[in-house]
Amino acid sequence: MAASLQALQRGHQLPYEATLNLHTGSVMPALGLGTWQLKHHTAATVLQALEAGYQMIDTSADYHTQRGIGEALGEFDGDREDIFIITKIEETDDAYEATHRNLAELRIDYADLVLIHRPPENGVGEALWQGLRRARRDGLTRDIGVSNYTIEQIEELVYLTGELPVVNQVEWTPFGHSPRMLDFCIDNGIVIQAWSPLTRGNRLNDDKLAAMAARYGRTPAQLLIRWNLQLGVVPLPKANHSNHMRENLQVFDFEISPQDMAKLRALNEHFSALGRLQYL
Ligand SMILES: NC(=O)c1ccc[n+]([C@@H]2O[C@H](COP(=O)([O-])OP(=O)(O)OC[C@H]3O[C@@H](n4cnc5c(N)ncnc54)[C@H](OP(=O)(O)O)[C@@H]3O)[C@@H](O)[C@H]2O)c1
Repeated sequence: MAASLQALQRGHQLPYEATLNLHTGSVMPALGLGTWQLKHHTAATVLQALEAGYQMIDTSADYHTQRGIGEALGEFDGDREDIFIITKIEETDDAYEATHRNLAELRIDYADLVLIHRPPENGVGEALWQGLRRARRDGLTRDIGVSNYTIEQIEELVYLTGELPVVNQVEWTPFGHSPRMLDFCIDNGIVIQAWSPLTRGNRLNDDKLAAMAARYGRTPAQLLIRWNLQLGVVPLPKANHSNHMRENLQVFDFEISPQDMAKLRALNEHFSALGRLQYL
């Protein structure tokens, strides 16, 4: 993966890879299902996603979807080991205890990845990080990372703890992203996960995006997801509707040209579906 990312830095196209290697050696699927506000019929919807081929599920205690995800995993006719579960702890939590609570809600023995949901008001979450390290040491999670951190906050966390997070999960679309954050993460072997990769539906009707999608015979949502895959960024689109869910998986059989990748990057206006890109 590192070689591919270096090629990306030189402006070359990434060959599509269905998984990424984290700097700890763990393997993470390149695409996952978001579950924020997937509160109704969560278990049935997540089970449908697993059966459709999703191998990664993103959640957090404050999404109130963990119990439904746990139920779906219990009913799924496949191996827990083959599904990558991401959950998060809040900035006011005791990280170790909160990880335990998350696992109990999810009814699983370990998470694949636990993230600090957002940096705390004071400091950069050193105590949270130490709690997550303990959770990892005790086998409660395979990997640990952060979400909504700026470059400076990650640097400070690394300075204080001597360890790089494997992931920074941030809001990320062609309309709102940070080339500086991408460069920083590539240089340091941190994977960016894209939250709200479909702009929460706000920009799917954008004229330029829609025209380009039509040229590829794809939907705007598929183009947004594919753009992330080719950047080496891991999109986590949320879909309640099964047609959306299936559509969002049909992104592995076409390639956006380097020229169109650049045109999509040029749409950047620091758009945020929630008001402000928190990591700038
Ligand atoms: N770490 C953080 O702080 C943070 C913050 C926000 C989100 N997240 C994570 O990121 C995930 C995704 O973000 P999000 O849920 O905010 O927004 P999103 O994935 O950008 O957009 C979800 C919306 O897009 C619609 N949609 C899905 N597929 C579509 C398609 N093919 N065509 C048209 N519309 C489509 C969905 O409709 P239906 O549901 O009706 O199908 C839903 O209304 C979250 O669920 C959560 O797991 C993390």
